[in-house]
Amino acid sequence: MDFDPTDQAHLIGDQYRDATNLSARIRIYDFATNPYDWFRWLFDHYDLPADARMLEVGCGPATLWQRNLDRIPPGWDITLADLSPGMLDAARETLTSAAHAFTFRLMDAQSIPDPDNSFDAVIANHMLYHVPDRHRALREIRRVLRPGGRLYASTLGVDHLREMDELVQRFDPAFPRHVERVSFLLDTGRDQLAAHFTRVSLDRYPSALEVTSADPVLDYLASDLAHRLATGPQRERMRAYLEEYIARHGSFHISTDSGLLAAWDDRQYP
Ligand SMILES: C[S@@+](CC[C@H](N)C(=O)[O-])C[C@H]1O[C@@H](n2cnc3c(N)ncnc32)[C@H](O)[C@@H]1O
Repeated sequence: MDFDPTDQAHLIGDQYRDATNLSARIRIYDFATNPYDWFRWLFDHYDLPADARMLEVGCGPATLWQRNLDRIPPGWDITLADLSPGMLDAARETLTSAAHAFTFRLMDAQSIPDPDNSFDAVIANHMLYHVPDRHRALREIRRVLRPGGRLYASTLGVDHLREMDELVQRFDPAFPRHVERVSFLLDTGRDQLAAHFTRVSLDRYPSALEVTSADPVLDYLASDLAHRLATGPQRERMRAYLEEYIARHGSFHISTDSGLLAAWDDRQYP
């Protein structure tokens, strides 16, 4: 019932076999209090030349690019990579009618096949906490970045979905908080990046969720690595609790805590 977030066989064979689970989770962000889209916000931070070569590792269903299709500079050369063949199929499907051309590659972020100094930017959104040997992946990312090139890595903060975890714990007090098992959070991740890059910056995305019906919460819980208990008889008990709570308070408030770490190296190169 409780999965290790770095169990790669489970990730490819079950959790990220295709985009179903991730899409169920993304739907809850329809209730976000920040009207400015998360993926638009991320894209705003990409400070890159008009002819940038970019690699996104762990691209998932390519939502980042789908939400920014109207403003991708035509000169950007973009490679989308994922460890899961099903996710890569979903990414191809998402972008079938896109005017911009993308390259799709099956790839483990721990061994990137490209030569040194290949990219102006590597993007790693909400994926570094899945990588078993993160320092190996960071060494690889650093190696394929050109001098001055940037890693843009989004991840969760410690308060992410706190009330969702508290809801689950109401029904199973032994259940661990989701973020307790995430080994690359905004704050801990910053130090991990500093072992590979001389500069690291952190920006938090301000938002929360005000959810007005029970099903999006239950669907999220049922899809999540840690919350399989939101299925079967338990689901109906949680639904009754949530419906009563929402009737009384108008919505179920859930904290969100996500942001972007950018890392680069300003050492002099020979
Ligand atoms: C939480 S999803 C994030 C997807 C997308 N980046 C987003 O933000 O919507 C994590 C993705 O990382 C991929 N992944 C996990 N381990 C990986 C690895 N070692 N190398 C490359 N991709 C990996 C998974 O298959 C999944 O598509």
